[in-house]
Amino acid sequence: MCGIVGYIGKRDVAPLLLEGLQRLEYRGYDSAGLAIQGKPAKGAQSAGLKTAKAKGRVRDLEAKLPKRFAGTTGIAHTRWATHGAPNDINAHPHQDAEGKVAVVHNGIIDNAADLRAKLAADGVELVSDTDSEALAHLIGRSQAPTLEEKVRHALAMVEGTYGIAVLHADFPDRIVVARNGSPVVLGIGEKEMFVASDVAALVSHTRQVVTLDDGEMATLKADDYRTYTTEGSRTSTSPTTVEWEAESYDMGGHDTYMHKEIHEQVDAVDRVLRGRIDDRFSTVHLGGLNLDAREARGVRRVKILGCGSAYHTGLIGAQLIEELARIPADAEPASEFRYRNPVVDPDTLYLAVSQSGETYDTLAAVQELKRKGARVLGVVNVVGSAIARETDGGVYVHAGPEVCVVSTKCFTNTAVAFALLALHLGRIRDLSVADGKRIIAGLRKLPEQIAEVLRGEEEIKKLAAEYANAKSMMFVGRVRGYPVAREASLKLKEVSYVHAEAYPASELKHGPLALIEPEVPTVAVLPDDDLLEKNRATLEEIKARSGRILAVAHREQEKADHTIVVPRNEVELDPILMGIPLQLLAYHTALALGRDIDKPRNLAKSVTVE
Ligand code: F6R
Repeated sequence: MCGIVGYIGKRDVAPLLLEGLQRLEYRGYDSAGLAIQGKPAKGAQSAGLKTAKAKGRVRDLEAKLPKRFAGTTGIAHTRWATHGAPNDINAHPHQDAEGKVAVVHNGIIDNAADLRAKLAADGVELVSDTDSEALAHLIGRSQAPTLEEKVRHALAMVEGTYGIAVLHADFPDRIVVARNGSPVVLGIGEKEMFVASDVAALVSHTRQVVTLDDGEMATLKADDYRTYTTEGSRTSTSPTTVEWEAESYDMGGHDTYMHKEIHEQVDAVDRVLRGRIDDRFSTVHLGGLNLDAREARGVRRVKILGCGSAYHTGLIGAQLIEELARIPADAEPASEFRYRNPVVDPDTLYLAVSQSGETYDTLAAVQELKRKGARVLGVVNVVGSAIARETDGGVYVHAGPEVCVVSTKCFTNTAVAFALLALHLGRIRDLSVADGKRIIAGLRKLPEQIAEVLRGEEEIKKLAAEYANAKSMMFVGRVRGYPVAREASLKLKEVSYVHAEAYPASELKHGPLALIEPEVPTVAVLPDDDLLEKNRATLEEIKARSGRILAVAHREQEKADHTIVVPRNEVELDPILMGIPLQLLAYHTALALGRDIDKPRNLAKSVTVE
C-alpha cells in the first residue's frame, strides 16, 4: 500500500526521505516521489518547491534526483496504483497549478470525479489521472490566510479516506498533515520532526511517536508540533514510546524478510506466551482483554472477522473456541461481513483480527459493529494501530514487526493468541483443570517443536524443487487441517504465482476431483486425529486418479508420494505446527521459480483501501 514519509529539521532531507521510503518498500508500491522546500537564498523567504517522481522502485527515484537537491524540509511517497496507471505523472507528490503546493496522499477520495470535473470547469488543467491531484489544486486555490486553513477548506470538500502531508512554498517552516482512515504517525525528535504512514519509517530516528486519530490534523515545525481536529479545536496528545527495535526491521543475515520471519517464529511464539500462563489455575491471563468472568460466561456466540491470512487464523480461532470453550464460533472475511448489513446480536462477542491493525475492510467492519452497539475485541499485532484503538480491548499478538508482504510469523502467533483466548474462555466456562494443564503443556512445547520443523528446511527445499513446475496445486484438509490448507494455498499463490486451490478434503469428491491429474499435485494436511482414516480414504481417491500427493502428517503416509513429518502436540494445537512446513514450501517454490519474494506482484501489505 502507499507510504508517506516527511521530515522537518536541520538535516539534509533527500537522503532521509529516501531511507524512509526504503523502509516502507515492504508495503508494496509501483512508483515513488518526493518534494523538498528549496533552501532560500540569504534574505529570501522561500526558494520554492523541488519535486522528483519515478515509476518503479525507490532506487529509480534516487537515480533521477539532481545532485543539488538541498533542503531540510520535505515529504515523500510510495504509490500503489488505485486511480490511474503506475507512471511518473500519477506518482505523488501532486502539485497545484502554480507549483506552490505539494501533497502526498494515502487513501481514496470517493468524490474525486466530481471534484476533478468542477476544477476542470473552472479552467484548472489536471495533469494526472489520480484522485489525489484534486487535493493539491483545492489547497492551492484556497484563499485562506494560513496553510492549516487552506488544508482544512480543501478537506471539507473531500469525501473518502486520506492520510496526507502537505508542503507549501509560502509556508516553508511547516508540514501540515491530516488523517481520516489512513494511518499518520508523527515522530518526535530533538529539534526535528518526522511523519510517516508507518512507524517502520521512523524508528531508526526516534521511538517517540504520536498516532493521529481520524479527523485529526497536525502542524509540524522543526522544534514543535501541535495537533487539532479538522474543525480546528486543539487536541491533546503526548508521545508514546514504540517498543519495536529498529533492528527488527533489518534483514538480520537472511536473504529475504520472508525467510527471516519464518525463522523468527520460535522466538515470536515464545513472546506471545510469555507472562501469560497461570499454572496455579491452569489458565492464562490476558491483560488487555477487558472482558470479566461474568461477561465471558454471558457470551453466546463468537464471530471472528479478518481478511486474507488474518481470516484464516480466524478459522483456526473459531475451532479452538468451540473445542475448548464450547461456545459456537465462526469466522467470516471482514470484507464481506461489512457489506451485508449483518444482524448484530448483543450476546455475540466479535473479534477483529489483523496484523497491521489498519486493514480498511476490517476497520470498517469494527466501526459498523460498534455503531450498532456490539462488543468488539481485537486480536492485533501492531500496538496502538487503528483497530487496536477502535476495539474495546483484546489480545496483542506480539509477533514483532512483520515486514514481508506475505504473512508468516504473524499468522502463527495469531493462531497461538487464539489458543490462549480459547483456553481463557474455556477455563471460565467448562474446560477442566486437567484439560487446561494439557493445553498449557502443549503450548509450552510449541517453540521447540517449531525449531524442529525448521530444521527440516533442506528436505522441504528439495520437495519444493520437485513440485515447483506443477500446473496447479490442490490443498486439502479436514476440520483442523482445512484452515491450514487454505492458508498454505494462499501462501503458495501470492509468493510463487503457482495457481492453487484449497478445499475441505471431504469436498473433493463433490467436484474438484475433476482437476486431479499428475500435473496437479495435492498437498494433504493429515493430523493424527479422529479423522485420519477419512483423510486416508481421500488419498486413495486421489491416487486412483494418478494424482501425486505431498502429505503433512505426524507419521509417514503410505499413499503419499512424500510426507513431511511434523511433531505431535495436543490435537487442538495441530493447525499451528502444521502450517509452518507449508510456509517453507511456498518460500522455496518461489525461490526455485525466481520470484521477488518480499515484493510479490500486485500485492501490498496493510491494505488501507476498500
Ligand atoms: C497474506 C497477507 C494478507 C493479509 C491481509 C490482512 O499473506 O498478508 O492476506 O493477511 O491483507 O492484513 P492484516 O492482518 O494486516 O489485517
